[in-house]
Amino acid sequence: MENKKGDVSDGAQEKFYSDAKEYWAAVTPTVDGMLGGFAKISPTDINGSKSFLRPYLKISGGSVTPKCALDCGAGIGRITKRLLLPIFETVDMVEQDKHFCDNARAFIGPESSRVTNVFCSGLQDFVPAEGNYDLIWSQWVLGHLKDEDLVRFFQRCRAGLTESGIMVVKENTVEAEEKTFDDSDSSYTRTRAELSDCMLKAGFKILASQKQKDFPKDLYPVYMFALQ
Ligand SMILES: C[S@@+](CC[C@H](N)C(=O)[O-])C[C@H]1O[C@@H](n2cnc3c(N)ncnc32)[C@H](O)[C@@H]1O
Repeated sequence: MENKKGDVSDGAQEKFYSDAKEYWAAVTPTVDGMLGGFAKISPTDINGSKSFLRPYLKISGGSVTPKCALDCGAGIGRITKRLLLPIFETVDMVEQDKHFCDNARAFIGPESSRVTNVFCSGLQDFVPAEGNYDLIWSQWVLGHLKDEDLVRFFQRCRAGLTESGIMVVKENTVEAEEKTFDDSDSSYTRTRAELSDCMLKAGFKILASQKQKDFPKDLYPVYMFALQ
């Protein structure tokens, strides 16, 4: 049932998560599957992410040590392979769909020896190890969490960062009064203000935000946020 206002009652919470699980279980474990048929935007996406991340890295005078990163809602590891492993010594992935988890190492290839853990878990339940990650990257997945779970997830991510670590969130946003709900994959698309509100409620400081450039005009505006 579509609910444009985005309020899912408590009784429907389980269905909200199980519908998304069912949706992703039927998706092929390919880059095209991860991006809903838009594999062609992947290089632009990765390049935009690299540019956004670069100033925060030690090598560019920032605080982030290139040791250990976490990829949230990692799918088959598109971001782990193309963005994180080329920069960080080791990467952990967390992804709820088992067939994506099972296909990740084959997709990533030999460099998957530096993927320490593939955690098969929903982000609503996942607890990052405390003080462990120099970077937590979360992209195109947070619409699958309810607001309260999102705030709690952000709180656990804050605790999971090293002293000088940062979190980056990259998400679709909607230019409207409030979030919309898509019943085909059971996800919200939030406004920038709503996303920022969840970040601030969790105690994060927003260091910067930036719109991804050069995506097709018919896609939602995609924004990156750096948090500490
Ligand atoms: C649009 S894909 C993005 C994958 C990856 N972040 C990328 O950009 O290539 C969304 C991913 O989020 C996963 N996902 C959906 N709901 C989730 C949840 N509650 N917890 C963890 N992962 C979830 C899906 O299984 C899928 O792999």
